[in-house]
Amino acid sequence: MIDSPFSLPEVPSPSKDLWIVANFKSNKNIQQALEWLGYVGPELKKSSVKVVVCPTFVCLSEIKKAVMVAGYPILIGAQDISRFDVGAYTGEVAGKLISEFADLVLVGHSERRQNFQETDEIISGKITQAKNSQIKPLLCVQNENTAVFGSVELVAYEPIFAIGTGHPDTADNASKVAGLLKKDRQIQVLYGGSVHSKNAEEFLVQESIDGLLVGRASLDPEEFLKIVKIAYSL
Ligand code: PGA
Repeated sequence: MIDSPFSLPEVPSPSKDLWIVANFKSNKNIQQALEWLGYVGPELKKSSVKVVVCPTFVCLSEIKKAVMVAGYPILIGAQDISRFDVGAYTGEVAGKLISEFADLVLVGHSERRQNFQETDEIISGKITQAKNSQIKPLLCVQNENTAVFGSVELVAYEPIFAIGTGHPDTADNASKVAGLLKKDRQIQVLYGGSVHSKNAEEFLVQESIDGLLVGRASLDPEEFLKIVKIAYSL
């Protein structure tokens, strides 16, 4: 949990540490992202539920400033990271530049694997850069057979059929896959894919599931807050 200069109301902690991560994808300009934060931030509590917002790169600096000023208990995530260190890589953003703003970074999302031809080799390079820059990688995998690199602690199971389709996996199957991913590994596993406030609890109560990665439903701050409040209530 990030330090806050303000004293925040506490809520009882759920029996496990949960993550609720908002992935804005390529949505929201700076003003819209700040408005979202202004709605969600004041409602967040001191809790073992870790709430993360992943806006676009162009919003990171303003979001970081606003979080620091208000002292909201929210972590900031980037949606991508260069697999190279700082240097002559036009268009890339190196981990050491991102770490000024972000605590966490999404890596291996299926939209990047599909649209940007990201291979396991590229993804592995990004994880290395994140680690070298003290940013926690959140590795997205599409099934139990997707490569999980040794150094990650946080994984999101996001089946392709469920992303942005309105057809989530069943909580039972998501839990089964999370269990398989955890076999012989010390990791936390989130579920992502068509999560909203009406199905969030089904996933969060599964023993193997440690949180949610939320795309479309995170764009509406009211809907996202409902999901966070479900996590607080468990
Ligand atoms: P969705 O996206 O919630 O819109 O299905 C999830 C994700 O891609 O992280």
